[in-house]
Amino acid sequence: MSKKKDTVLVSGGAGYIGTHTTVALIEAGYDVVMIDNFSNSEPSAVEGVEKILGRKMTFEECDTCDIKALRGVFERHEFSTVIHFAAYKAVGESMAEPLKYYQNNLVSYMNILQLMKEFGRPNILFSSSATVYGDADVLPVTEQTPRKPATSPYGNTKQIAEDILRDCCAAYEGMYGIALRYFNPVGAHPSALIGELPRGVPNNLLPFVTQTAAGLRECLSVFGNDYDTPDGTCLRDYIDVVDLAKAHVAAVDRMTEGKMEQKYEIFNVGTGRPGSVLELLTRFEKANDLKLPYKIVGRRPGDVPAVWADTAVANKVLGWKAERDLDDTLRAAWAWEKHLRNIK
Ligand code: UFG
Repeated sequence: MSKKKDTVLVSGGAGYIGTHTTVALIEAGYDVVMIDNFSNSEPSAVEGVEKILGRKMTFEECDTCDIKALRGVFERHEFSTVIHFAAYKAVGESMAEPLKYYQNNLVSYMNILQLMKEFGRPNILFSSSATVYGDADVLPVTEQTPRKPATSPYGNTKQIAEDILRDCCAAYEGMYGIALRYFNPVGAHPSALIGELPRGVPNNLLPFVTQTAAGLRECLSVFGNDYDTPDGTCLRDYIDVVDLAKAHVAAVDRMTEGKMEQKYEIFNVGTGRPGSVLELLTRFEKANDLKLPYKIVGRRPGDVPAVWADTAVANKVLGWKAERDLDDTLRAAWAWEKHLRNIK
């Protein structure tokens, strides 16, 4: 382990990406204060992090929408950098309950920014999404690819939050921001002690796949095979969550080492390789030596046919590259599901 670096506040620290990023930050020599209100996560996730690292973590149960409680966190802990994960993320739910999304995702975010300004904490890393590109005209997408109007309140919160960060970094001398645009995070820690914990029926492909393999779901529905893609199913850029976590470390290094060239920077975080839904299924079956029941059904409203990243900027400027082999990722995802369900 390298020498002690800054302390990072991780909001949504008990979540899927929050736990993996916390592990990567500690392994890189940072200290971490984790906060979460467990609205979409479990205390066992924090225990998983502690088991992997073999140490107790600094954790506070805190709702980032509650500015009084959040102020207490700022008062009690010194940190130079915030990674703000805490947000709702279900596209469909955001269409049905837009206010819930605007309220939670934007109020919590503005509370964080407000307190950072007040307490003079300089660096913020925001979890953005490839959803900001929408149905892009040219693929792969670069950070310069124009954003398309958001097609869901969830997507809109990501666009608005990026704009807020741009404006705050331009206006406030002591504020620096990085937005990481995640493509499709998948997989789990190789220890199988942390991973994704979807509540209810999973919206995303891989958790549905692993739950189907575990027998929790009868059959996986493939949403559409009539897209203008090689096998007719949608193309996505599936990025291993451990690689994604390391991209956060690279971004935090850049901020804390004073290497930012602009006060607000954006990076695509993907592999740069498109993969289809059917490819993912067949590779999952092969990698784990099992058969998945699936059927082709109609398209899911709002899905874009294809999106994958141009990662040249992240590779060059952050010095970060996705490294995990997709088969290992798919084995880790299944190992995590088996761990959750006590399957041997
Ligand atoms: N899919 C299925 N069956 C399922 C679930 C998904 O066929 O049961 C397909 C989808 O139609 C899509 C692909 O698998 O073609 C990936 O779907 P996900 O729901 O896993 O991911 P999305 O690409 O729709 O969305 C993800 C994140 C969003 C983010 C978006 C950005 O969940 O938060 O990527 O591109 F905004």
